[in-house]
Amino acid sequence: MADITPVHIRERKLQGPPITMLTAYDYSFASMVDAAGIDIILVGDSLGMVVLGYDSTVPVTMEEMLHHCRAVSRGVKRALLVGDMPFMSYQVSPEDALMNASRFLKEAGCDAVKLEGGVDVAPVIERLVKAGIPVMGHVGLTPQTASSLGGFRVQGKDIERARAIYKDALAVAEAGAFSVVLECIPSELSVLITKEVDIPTIGIGAGPGCDGQVLVTNDLLGLYEKFTPKFVRKYLDLAPKINQALKTFKKEVEAGDFPSLEESFSGGEEAVKAIRAQN
Ligand code: KIV
Repeated sequence: MADITPVHIRERKLQGPPITMLTAYDYSFASMVDAAGIDIILVGDSLGMVVLGYDSTVPVTMEEMLHHCRAVSRGVKRALLVGDMPFMSYQVSPEDALMNASRFLKEAGCDAVKLEGGVDVAPVIERLVKAGIPVMGHVGLTPQTASSLGGFRVQGKDIERARAIYKDALAVAEAGAFSVVLECIPSELSVLITKEVDIPTIGIGAGPGCDGQVLVTNDLLGLYEKFTPKFVRKYLDLAPKINQALKTFKKEVEAGDFPSLEESFSGGEEAVKAIRAQN
């Protein structure tokens, strides 16, 4: 079990400091994110876009999620590990959702699951929590249903949608979630929700007034070049640097500059002599 538990995360609402959460999809990145002291590692279904090359998160399957969660869990020592439930793994019925959620804990080493939605999924959250599965909610822009929300755009600028998101956050908290992600909503709305719900809010494109912040690690490192949302701060711009390194490798191999003697093994003279003598 992780050092950081859902109970610790809940306590941070009152005690601070702000909660940090980042995504990881494999062992190497999970080890680095964990070693950096990040509180929560999310195996987001964003892996569908940034790792698997899908156009959206919709095609991601349970088996793909579990495969990546298992790899990540081998690299995590202290952070709370949250697995993202993929589209249609929790919408069919609370019982179906329970079976799928339990696999994240039993088969993939996760400590909790995350699912998208508010009022509509509250009965599902209640069922999972009752069975002992910690749940993180996710309201506002919910990427799995982005097309019915008008695409990847800020949500809750108009009164009707803002009220719906507010009610969604309250429903998620009342259903027993230990925290809730607020994605792509105006800062004023996230301040209101953060004040009104008794669980920590973790924002992504929701301004500075949340109890914590989450980003997709590949965005933060500048590894995903297809699209960078306005709310992303690129702490590194790795893609061009990686591209340069790969080109240099190609150039050096073609020029005979790689590998050097220092990068090679010696000590094979006797064996080679013997083979030559036999032939
Ligand atoms: O899938 C994901 O990475 C997420 C985060 C953006 C919160 O849901």
